[in-house]
Amino acid sequence: MPNLPHKTFCLYTYGCQMNEHDSERIAGILESHGAVQVDTIEEAEIAVFVTCCIREAADVRLMGQVASIKNIPLPEGSTLAKRMVCIGGCIGQRDGDALPGKLAHVDVVFGTQNIERLPYLLEAAMAEGGHHVEVLEKSTTFSTDLPSKREHPWAAWLPITVGCNNFCTYCIVPYVRGRERSRALEDIAADARALVADGVKEITLLGQNVNSYGRDLYGEPRFADVLRAVSESGVERLRFATSHPKDLTREVIDLYGTLDNLMPSLHLPVQSGSNRILKAMNRRYTVERYLELIEAMREVNPDVSLSTDIIVGFPGETEEDFQATYDLVKRVGYSQVFTFIYSPREGTPAASMVDDTPREVIQRRFDSLVDLVQENAFEQNQRFVGRELSVLVEGASKRDDHVLTGHSPHNVTVHAPLPEGVDIDDLVGRIVPVRIDHARAWYLSGGVLDA
Ligand code: 5AD
Ligand code: SF4
Repeated sequence: MPNLPHKTFCLYTYGCQMNEHDSERIAGILESHGAVQVDTIEEAEIAVFVTCCIREAADVRLMGQVASIKNIPLPEGSTLAKRMVCIGGCIGQRDGDALPGKLAHVDVVFGTQNIERLPYLLEAAMAEGGHHVEVLEKSTTFSTDLPSKREHPWAAWLPITVGCNNFCTYCIVPYVRGRERSRALEDIAADARALVADGVKEITLLGQNVNSYGRDLYGEPRFADVLRAVSESGVERLRFATSHPKDLTREVIDLYGTLDNLMPSLHLPVQSGSNRILKAMNRRYTVERYLELIEAMREVNPDVSLSTDIIVGFPGETEEDFQATYDLVKRVGYSQVFTFIYSPREGTPAASMVDDTPREVIQRRFDSLVDLVQENAFEQNQRFVGRELSVLVEGASKRDDHVLTGHSPHNVTVHAPLPEGVDIDDLVGRIVPVRIDHARAWYLSGGVLDA
């Protein structure tokens, strides 16, 4: 068993919630081997990068960040000859052996399927001072079998599937996360109960495509069963990310009317409002079908906040295609839209499609969409003014330590002045009622009713 007594490490995490969760596991694993997490690179003898490769910007950022720590001295008293630099996650999985060639001072490369091997690779690298690269095609363990160090005691990620079988033509994820695998329902339910017993107030079910859960085990999606089982744990707030429109069943939609702890917010990536582009993306639904789902959702619960992902500038996107996306966004009225400019990823089918739309045209489309998204968010938030919302308190606001910040059930940020004589530490992790007085595009503000 590798031993890393008192070795200090810091984590850099990029990308999606799955990566954030992997980082919690990595922290848990390293600490279980005696290492100690620190906040800054100056204090760290080991730097671990948990990387994302979904868009080119993530690659560029990683290269810059790794290069920038090169000349920072080791903390005083360290017995190492140099700081150990480890790269894991999606770029580690994708590039493997090629990484030390691109970044000479990298010591350890691991993938998405073998985070439990990090202490062994580190120990070998420390002993031999050479590069240690190990990237597996397939994992034998689920990361949930590994220790975890939760970033917040009140909130937990709970992976139910890993990997993706969808092969949207622009997306690298199926290549770096592998095929979809579902965990056993009983294990998920047991984890949920254990988290609740440990004081967790909010559970977010995780998977690249959560709502196709169970297809590999039962031949059909059983995501509704997962929602019911986790809801029964009694957790106060239940969320999930990310779901695919083609797998959103009537049964799941109906649960928004019956499960009290299923929070009234749904992230349902649409990617484009043009059927032609959706087909080229291999999304396997039409705009009409997507709108039917939204309508069904709003019939079950008109108060559900909707969010989505949109890619602007997919190869061959015409002005007409973009206009269809713009119209769809306007029509749905999202609370939040994550907008991305298409980024070709080597090895994906879209990377070899003809892409001749000028950069300025794509940027103009992107900017006009961003303006619309902001207007929509502002409008959507107005419905909360005058209402009492329960807010899970996360801490003091970054700008003012007399103001608390947290999230509403709809997943909107809420700020409120800290009540007289109340210490923020007594409120963190608690759910408090807040009366909303003002609504902006990206947050609500009001007063705490009863702390
Ligand atoms: N270029 C731009 N955006 C992408 N996404 C995935 N792949 C790409 C790409 N190659 C976006 C999708 C997805 C979100 C997580 O990232 O919108 O839903
Ligand atoms: Fe990528 Fe599509 Fe899978 Fe989402 S569903 S991870 S966009 S391939």
